Amino acid sequence: MDSQSLPYVPDLESIDPSLDLVAEIQRLRRERRAVILAHYYQEPEIQDLADFVGDSLQLSQAAAKTDAEVIVFCGVHFMAETAKILSPDKIVVIPDMDAGCSLADRCPAEAFAQWLKAYPDHDVVSYINCSAGVKALSTIICTSSNAVRVVQSIPEDRPIVFAPDRHLGAWVKKQTGRDMVLFPGFCIVHEQFTAKRVAALQAQHPTAKLIVHPECDATVSRMADFVGSTAALLNYVATSPATQFIVGTEAGILHQMRKLRPEADLLPVPADSGCNCSLCPYMKLNSVEKLYLCLRDLEPRIELDETLRQRALAPLERMLALG
Ligand code: 13P
Ligand code: SF4
Repeated sequence: MDSQSLPYVPDLESIDPSLDLVAEIQRLRRERRAVILAHYYQEPEIQDLADFVGDSLQLSQAAAKTDAEVIVFCGVHFMAETAKILSPDKIVVIPDMDAGCSLADRCPAEAFAQWLKAYPDHDVVSYINCSAGVKALSTIICTSSNAVRVVQSIPEDRPIVFAPDRHLGAWVKKQTGRDMVLFPGFCIVHEQFTAKRVAALQAQHPTAKLIVHPECDATVSRMADFVGSTAALLNYVATSPATQFIVGTEAGILHQMRKLRPEADLLPVPADSGCNCSLCPYMKLNSVEKLYLCLRDLEPRIELDETLRQRALAPLERMLALG
């Protein structure tokens, strides 16, 4: 195999150990005219270095309107790919190309196309946590913060398929009263939050507010005081008079919650479980070192076939047009 065709691998050993990485990242981002976008599930150090931290919707809006020449996407692959779909003329890099997502990875476009054949007359609402190939097969995209609004925008008489997250789909079904066919995907992080673990935490902290992401299953979201996207959970903590919160989502969000409510008691689910299953193993593949390398090398880059990009763009633009 020609070495030119090998994928870029971040060479951590090429980093001079005496370098001040934060200062280098600041220098390179100016030199490259780069914007650093980070999801709330990124390491605190990465969130603090970013120009903008947000949920999936906010990040795609930021990627669509930036005038930077380079987008450094500190998140997972589908997020960086969405940025490239929206901003094809920009260089889009991600610190670790292997930062996938169980929802996107378990819904390959070819298999999804086959599965959809059973629902030929349906509108297809796809959660943004999917590949460009799946987006291209969709009528409209949604994120966890606008899924209810997106489904409500579809005429009542239209049958709907919702993919790939069955839990978000079930929650939207409940909120809208719409009968939707659900693709059987799930997030490996949120599936770890069982009703039993949540109930044990509630028993220990009876006055705490339980706030969870809609990627949690229905047994957990039914118990919650509030269900919302990462940005909505953050806003809930910022504005609630409560002082104790059980947080049912990836623990990276606690960084911004602590900044907004330093005095509040924030209890991630599952606390004291003896493992790190409240952390997304894909999100955590990114590091400050790899962020430095991708700014230095402008690799690894997201590249997309132009026909596929245009087909994936249309359902994304329908979502963005909803505001
Ligand atoms: P939001 O930040 O849009 O709520 O999404 C959560 C998530 O799991 C992203 O992968
Ligand atoms: Fe995907 Fe779940 Fe990780 Fe979000 S937390 S990127 S949905 S695996």
